[in-house]
Amino acid sequence: MGDIDKNSPIGVFDSGVGGLTVVKELMEQLPDERIVYYGDTARVPYGNKSKETVIRYSREIADFLCEQKVKAIVVACNTASALALEELKKSVEVPIIGVVKPGARAAADASQKGKIGVIATRATVSSGIYEAYLKEKRPDIRVYAKACPLFVPLVEEGLTDDPITDSIIHMYLDGLLAEGIDALVLGCTHYPLLRDSIARAVGKDVTLVNPAYETARSFKALLDEKELLCGTGEKNGQNAENRMIAGTRPGNEFFVSDSPEQFRNFAGNVLSIRIGAEDVKVKAFAG
Ligand code: DGL
Repeated sequence: MGDIDKNSPIGVFDSGVGGLTVVKELMEQLPDERIVYYGDTARVPYGNKSKETVIRYSREIADFLCEQKVKAIVVACNTASALALEELKKSVEVPIIGVVKPGARAAADASQKGKIGVIATRATVSSGIYEAYLKEKRPDIRVYAKACPLFVPLVEEGLTDDPITDSIIHMYLDGLLAEGIDALVLGCTHYPLLRDSIARAVGKDVTLVNPAYETARSFKALLDEKELLCGTGEKNGQNAENRMIAGTRPGNEFFVSDSPEQFRNFAGNVLSIRIGAEDVKVKAFAG
């Protein structure tokens, strides 16, 4: 694609640590690619902020990633994808995708009955974007969306498998189950980390859709289509090993707007992505 260098890194950003669930999928599916990640840990959460604010934050980060000479960008945050992606597309000159469209596409394919649950932050739910994409793909679909604001702090507190979490899952999801959904979109970066507990609560007749996984697949196809997949070969000889020690591979860089230590701990403890202290830098924006 034009003058974009296919050996440049890919840029990935999120409101904080949650986008690392997308990084994990990218590392699995695109082990040859170098990643520059930005987590806006000083300004998280985005999920209860206005559209204007999320667009402003997302623009600042996308510009910063472009300054790092990334060849393409993944908006690894459902809220930023829902509220800001279309705006970013107008100004960002490299290919850019979000997590919402791939997730919606996979859910439409997964549902037999056409009754789909979507769980996400308040901002994503009120944007109505999952419903719009789902109906674009299958106009007959009925969508039941529910904001689950307590899930993010539960995950960040490490309560992914806990009776308190189980009862909150039931509080949020029982209504959706009563509607007879047969697919459920985990429409927030943190929710795939609750996958086992959610699967227990919804039972085997409901397919759980993880947009992070679907996004990595779509992103790989996009890079391929634009001839931007980085070359394989001697430079990337340790790929199998890189998969095992994701995050420590040379060339991956992580930027956060606050608390680099907390970020590294979450990456290591919750996602088994080990990141060296020198690989996380602080880059904050004013305001
Ligand atoms: N990353 C956000 C999302 O996927 C969740 C955390 C937040 O509210 O910023 O929607």
